[in-house]
Amino acid sequence: MMTINNRAIRYLMPALLLSGLFLFGEVSAHGGATGIVKERMDLMKSMGDRMKKIAAMVKGKETFDAAWIAVSAQEIKQAAPEIAHLFPEGSLHKPSEALPRIWQERGRFDEMTEQMILEAGKLSDLATAGDRRSIMLQFTRLGKTCSACHTDFREKDKD
Ligand code: HEC
Repeated sequence: MMTINNRAIRYLMPALLLSGLFLFGEVSAHGGATGIVKERMDLMKSMGDRMKKIAAMVKGKETFDAAWIAVSAQEIKQAAPEIAHLFPEGSLHKPSEALPRIWQERGRFDEMTEQMILEAGKLSDLATAGDRRSIMLQFTRLGKTCSACHTDFREKDKD
């Protein structure tokens, strides 16, 4: 059992690294946020916390708990539709890191949210089924939908 898990981790590690999944521990620019900017940062932060914990499980730093992953992925899926309401045009007050491009390419932004919802749903289903390798692969896919949107629609870290 242990051997299979370790082999799966070794196999998946490069993909996980490439997808930037180990960056979920990033320092947030949260301090001093108010109103809708704070609301969306809170939402993103709670999704980030879940992803970080799943990443720790995938890396073997925490006990792998497929049932917890299933519930967390489901929570991400259910919370994500809120994203559509949390980015009204021009809501860029400090310390927001959102880019004005969101409103120039709103269709693409919303599609990326939809894609994330889809992948989160798949992760929840796979985690319920319990096959560790499929869970890890799907976790990578979900993580890529997060980083894809951040790459295009969020300011790069300044520090
Ligand atoms: C459709 C685009 C989009 C998707 C999908 C998306 N994000 Fe974000 N995320 C953003 C934007 C834009 C910001 C910056 C918001 C701001 O600063 O006003 C952000 C900010 C964040 C932050 C920083 C919050 C803070 O406190 O400053 C974290 C953490 C985060 N996202 C995690 C995630 C995770 C994890 C996922 C996937 C499960 C995800 N995001 C999916 C667009 C997205």
